Amino acid sequence: MIQKGQKIEKAEGRLGVLIPGLGAVSTTFMAGVEAIKQGIAQPVGSLTQLGTIRLGKRTDKRVPAIKDFVPLASLNDLVFGGWDIYEDNCFESAVKAGVLEKSLLDQVRPGIEKIRPWKAVFSQDYVKRLQGPNVKTGKNKMELARQVMEDIENFRKENGLSRMVMVWCGSTEVYLKASEAHASLAAFEKALCDNDPAITPSMVYAYAALSMKIPFANGAPNLTVDVPALTQLAQDKGVPICGKDFKTGQTLMKTILAPGLKSRMLGLSGWFSTNILGNRDGEVLDDPGSFKTKEESKLSVLDQILQPELYPLLYKDFHHKVSIHYYPPRGDNKEGWDNIDIYGWLGYPMQIKINFLCRDSILAAPIVLDLVLFLDLAQRCGMRGIQEWLSFYFKSPMHAPGLYPEHDLFIQLMKLKNTLRYLRGEDLITHLGMEYYD
Ligand SMILES: NC(=O)c1ccc[n+]([C@@H]2O[C@H](COP(=O)([O-])OP(=O)(O)OC[C@H]3O[C@@H](n4cnc5c(N)ncnc54)[C@H](O)[C@@H]3O)[C@@H](O)[C@H]2O)c1
Repeated sequence: MIQKGQKIEKAEGRLGVLIPGLGAVSTTFMAGVEAIKQGIAQPVGSLTQLGTIRLGKRTDKRVPAIKDFVPLASLNDLVFGGWDIYEDNCFESAVKAGVLEKSLLDQVRPGIEKIRPWKAVFSQDYVKRLQGPNVKTGKNKMELARQVMEDIENFRKENGLSRMVMVWCGSTEVYLKASEAHASLAAFEKALCDNDPAITPSMVYAYAALSMKIPFANGAPNLTVDVPALTQLAQDKGVPICGKDFKTGQTLMKTILAPGLKSRMLGLSGWFSTNILGNRDGEVLDDPGSFKTKEESKLSVLDQILQPELYPLLYKDFHHKVSIHYYPPRGDNKEGWDNIDIYGWLGYPMQIKINFLCRDSILAAPIVLDLVLFLDLAQRCGMRGIQEWLSFYFKSPMHAPGLYPEHDLFIQLMKLKNTLRYLRGEDLITHLGMEYYD
């Protein structure tokens, strides 16, 4: 375990950001970073850029910005590279994604136009609705992993990078359960060589990154690094990993509201969530296999937060339904409806309705930025394996075997900030506060 207040290596040199999947989320992230660097937009939604952290007693009035408290890489030191099955450069891809206005994209065009996707590791067996020309070929999946490693090594050399981080922003793959092929590194490497269908494209990228000691975050609900073979590889190589599935939109709202209902001991009889979404992600999720992966991720949060086994009277049999409808006219501007049937004193029923006109990629982009900076920090601190303190950013947070994941957004934030305090040798904040009344 790392020690409280131990030495943290400085964030010196350039930090390479490797992204499989140059679609709506990742181009919104990269274009956004360029716009922020130029001073034409603000990093709203990013904890690393705007968040503060209280230190010591409330009366001490020590509240530095997070980015001044821990040594994070500067936005000016980020260099982007990535893979996609389409040949569009990042400017073209961002225009097609339709998240950011053309006038904003024109201003950052030189910065993002030069990012051209490397050939992807891809198979339609895992994402049924997509097909593209920019795809690697090789005799087996191990060979494809080696090609990914070559891309990374070339990128490192060409840009004189001192460190790198990889964030999966590719499509959601079909539902898959961990199996024998994922049980150990030896089995995994054999499966790579044998072209075993249990090894998905996202796992090939993750294996390449971890083998090169590059931290990995998983923005989709795919299994990817959440299997024993790869968590062990991360441990052995001393690399931090985290996932899965960026927490945005409806699930973000759920993990804000559900802890509040539970803290007031209000009962829940049903939570019905539905969405319309018209971007490429919506198209991919229109396939039942990819939707199943997403559904599992979205459904798990309420059970964990509400703990029906501890509160059977309030939460034993609540009905939870989630659906996503692909509806092209909306593009990236998703609309979500929640109907929440709750009950209060003496069992009297009440209803809450939420109509969230959200912009998915606008909510996801600052998450990508924070994960890049925090994973890089974690690596410079010598933190390895699953980074549970980054649960704050995920719908299905990875966690140690035998633990349940923590979904409550407020506990997650406290855990994140206490981790930063610990790293810098500051007292953890318990919110007890008795000392103010002695
Ligand atoms: N937008 C959000 O708020 C949000 C929230 C949580 C999770 N996610 C997940 O993040 C991912 C990206 O979302 P998006 O809205 O940017 O989707 P998108 O469809 O716009 O972009 C995904 C890109 O990945 C590419 N791709 C697919 N498989 C690939 C592979 N094997 N290698 C390289 N590229 C590949 C696709 O061609 C596409 O360009 C999805 O898995 C989505 O479910 C998004």
